[in-house]
Amino acid sequence: MMTAQQREDLTLLYQGEVFGEMFYCTLLRHFHSPVQQLLIGSLLQLETENKARVRPIAFKHDIDLIESEYKRNEGAEFVSHVKNMEWIEAARSLVPISEDAVANYRRIAAEAPEAWKPLAESMVEHETLILTATRMAAAGEDEKAADLVASHLVYPLPKPSSF
Ligand SMILES: [Fe+2]
Repeated sequence: MMTAQQREDLTLLYQGEVFGEMFYCTLLRHFHSPVQQLLIGSLLQLETENKARVRPIAFKHDIDLIESEYKRNEGAEFVSHVKNMEWIEAARSLVPISEDAVANYRRIAAEAPEAWKPLAESMVEHETLILTATRMAAAGEDEKAADLVASHLVYPLPKPSSF
């Protein structure tokens, strides 16, 4: 039996990807250079692939698979904090958000039941990857960040021959 907190945590691991997908999807509307589109598009792809990976485990543990409209709206609205910034400023302001996400996922992994602890631990790695890529973007290394994210994708976006 999972505790109420553990159910809430597993739900968050799934719905957090719903949030992330809509966040990066909306971010694509505001940052238009080819390298920005590649990096943000790759992060969107990472969230989509990760959501697909989490779904069977959520289902196994009787978590509702219906994607939350609330989380989608939250993801889209979160972009309003950064949409009027230069991309590098936006990336810099996303670093502490990403650090908080890693810390929260560490807490979830520490408290997860054995049945889905490996998933929770892999989610810490997933969030750490996003944090690393965001830090690279905050240092002006968008292409390097896109390459890093692409190296973790099953279906990476094709890279333009030049930027
Ligand atoms: Fe994610």
